[in-house]
Amino acid sequence: MHIPVLSREVVEWLAIRPEGIYVDATAGAGGHTRAILERLTTGRLIAFDRDPWALEIAREQLRAYQDKIMLVQENFTNLPVFLRQLGLTGVDGIVADLGLSQMQIDAPERGFSLKAAGPLDMRMDPREPLTAEEIVNRWSERELAQLIYQLGEERRSQRIARAVVRARPVRNTVQLATLIEACLGGRRRAASRATGTRIHPATRTFQALRMTVNRELESLEQFLRNAPSCLASGGRLVVISFHSLEDRLVKQYFQSWNREGRMRNLTRHVVRPSAEEVHSNPRSRSARLRAAERLEEGEQSPVSLELIN
Ligand SMILES: C[S@@+](CC[C@H](N)C(=O)[O-])C[C@H]1O[C@@H](n2cnc3c(N)ncnc32)[C@H](O)[C@@H]1O
Repeated sequence: MHIPVLSREVVEWLAIRPEGIYVDATAGAGGHTRAILERLTTGRLIAFDRDPWALEIAREQLRAYQDKIMLVQENFTNLPVFLRQLGLTGVDGIVADLGLSQMQIDAPERGFSLKAAGPLDMRMDPREPLTAEEIVNRWSERELAQLIYQLGEERRSQRIARAVVRARPVRNTVQLATLIEACLGGRRRAASRATGTRIHPATRTFQALRMTVNRELESLEQFLRNAPSCLASGGRLVVISFHSLEDRLVKQYFQSWNREGRMRNLTRHVVRPSAEEVHSNPRSRSARLRAAERLEEGEQSPVSLELIN
């Protein structure tokens, strides 16, 4: 099961008003959704997830709150259009907890698992046309090396791309993980740059494939571009990222909003999980939370905070 990351901090930074309207842009198993719903009286929550299976689990988990919640199977890039259709000019808070849930990773048939054989799929939304299979078996060696280097931040990307192309057709996730492990010299575990902990040698390549299949950075960028206009004045945005490229994008947007006086940055230092949380939920170790607040038109951020990490 998926354990929500930085749940207490999400609720604190959203500063939930019991009568407010909130958006959980990434419902997943509904952990953060539930934490928000528990604090609403007359308030309402709109929960997005682009993955229909995730949304079904959230629906099950949140049955008790069905009169307060609206579940939507959509990419969070569509949030502005959706709010407009509902006639909402701005909500009181939005949370986006990026990436995948543990349930998605653990289901072999989704194709995210390094350990249990499954099809090379990796789509969060099965309506999307591109799968990992297409990239692994059809893209050029150069394109493969490039995406593994850029999105996986993997130095040995060219060696991996060459081995993948030679092994074609690659049929499942374990075959791919095993061939990457072999081409990098056996069972040696790489160290994660974010955390220093040992990871499977194919982890970075899988991450790069998944981010490409789901156009994750593009979606995040589009979401961030529109986020301020989806918030009422005083409304808050909380973003949790797990990847340095995502966090860099979030930080850049927060800095420019702060400079332009559109949003006040609330987290000068990025918020990380406590040692206790990392101990009880190792998946949380690379999480980084940032929060910002929508300013009134013409209002200035009282202290111009530059983010320092
Ligand atoms: C880390 S999980 C969220 C877990 C959730 N906060 C919880 O406590 O259970 C991320 C979820 O976001 C969804 N997701 C990722 N990118 C998305 C996007 N662009 N639009 C909508 N949902 C997205 C994934 O399908 C996944 O279910």
